[in-house]
Amino acid sequence: MTVEPAAQVVGHVVVPGDKSISHRAVLLGALGEGKTRIRGFGRSGDTRATIEAVRALGVEVEDVADDELVVAGVGLRGLHGGAVDCGNAGTLMRLLAGICAGQEGEFTLEGDESLSARPMERVAAPLRRMGADVETADGHAPLTVRGSAALRGVEIEPEVASAQVKSAILLAGLNAAGSTTVVERVPTRDHTELMLEAAGVPVRRRPASVTVEPAGALRLGEIVVPGDFSSAAPLLVAAALVPGSDVTVHDLGVNPRRTGLLDVLERMGARVSVFDRRREGREPVASVQVQSGELVATDVGAEEVPALVDELPLVALLASHARGETRVTGAAELRVKETDRIEAVTDGLRAAGARIHSLDDGWTITGVPARLRGGHLDARGDHRIAMLGAVAGLASREGVAIEGADTAAISFPGFFELLDSVTRR
Ligand code: S3P
Repeated sequence: MTVEPAAQVVGHVVVPGDKSISHRAVLLGALGEGKTRIRGFGRSGDTRATIEAVRALGVEVEDVADDELVVAGVGLRGLHGGAVDCGNAGTLMRLLAGICAGQEGEFTLEGDESLSARPMERVAAPLRRMGADVETADGHAPLTVRGSAALRGVEIEPEVASAQVKSAILLAGLNAAGSTTVVERVPTRDHTELMLEAAGVPVRRRPASVTVEPAGALRLGEIVVPGDFSSAAPLLVAAALVPGSDVTVHDLGVNPRRTGLLDVLERMGARVSVFDRRREGREPVASVQVQSGELVATDVGAEEVPALVDELPLVALLASHARGETRVTGAAELRVKETDRIEAVTDGLRAAGARIHSLDDGWTITGVPARLRGGHLDARGDHRIAMLGAVAGLASREGVAIEGADTAAISFPGFFELLDSVTRR
């Protein structure tokens, strides 16, 4: 697919429901008492895998509409053992490992080639400390989890700042004896904690840690999923990059642990406004407007990374169009995402004319306030890289041909159509 240059990007849109929250809603709904209705569900390749996963473990899920589900919970220890195909979904595999740790039975969690290359000891090791029997294939999927009815609550500081690892430990903690605490010096997304609180679990939050107590039961009732900030991000970045652009995304999740991109956009000189703030359950929601501006370089370091980890490829694109040198550091985690995103971004943007160099944990980018030439970008089977290619194409002089563009559907089916609807040529 080739994305041609845009004259402007203009419009008001909504994006599908948040992927992180949709995964959690299905997983917690499966462990709940009675039925959980999920509205605003973000249906995508990844979240479809989560629905199929809980079905494979004995949970009924009714598809009410494309964006609405009813999950018939089996209770906190009610899953039966079995094999699960997690597809491309790292969040599913890691959170489910935590859930299975406290169930009786044997669970095998498999993934596709990309997921099978990603590190899994980061969840296996803490779950073993809690008393589960977890095997990995040399640190990778497939995982075999033999759950235990006698998990112990522990205090753990994971080696990496990861919401997936934190969530796996907290979910195991629901079925453990005593409290379970995860220490995190740099805060990561807190959707799990917020949803557990809403389900009636005692959760204690401190600035650098979170503790859950054994739950007894989860009662969710209804969950309304806000729009996915990470799916809105390509549209917002396109608006910042293409002169004369103005895009507003409504009903968007603006959890502050997800919206680091807005701070970066403001620092770089785009015009950002956030209005109509409200809450859906415990999650903050708003409308977000971005208008183009003259962009200048900025620095992004480790402290800021978790709040924009999935948006860093887009930050590299912004930096390629910003006057001065941008340094992104502390982002080594990008090397173990769906692909090595540090190399995928360096190769893709350089081929389009950017002056970008990879570091072990990020990039240096020397920008010029002009359009890149454009060229050819390989998505490497990674949805975020495919969407990066699309935005790079809009902002370029000659367009960008994306190889493997359909992988965008892993998180955002309909992405190209929505982007097209706001593009003026
Ligand atoms: C996610 C956490 C992040 C993020 C991923 C979704 C989640 O991963 O990159 O897309 O839903 O918890 P890490 O926890 O590995 O940083």
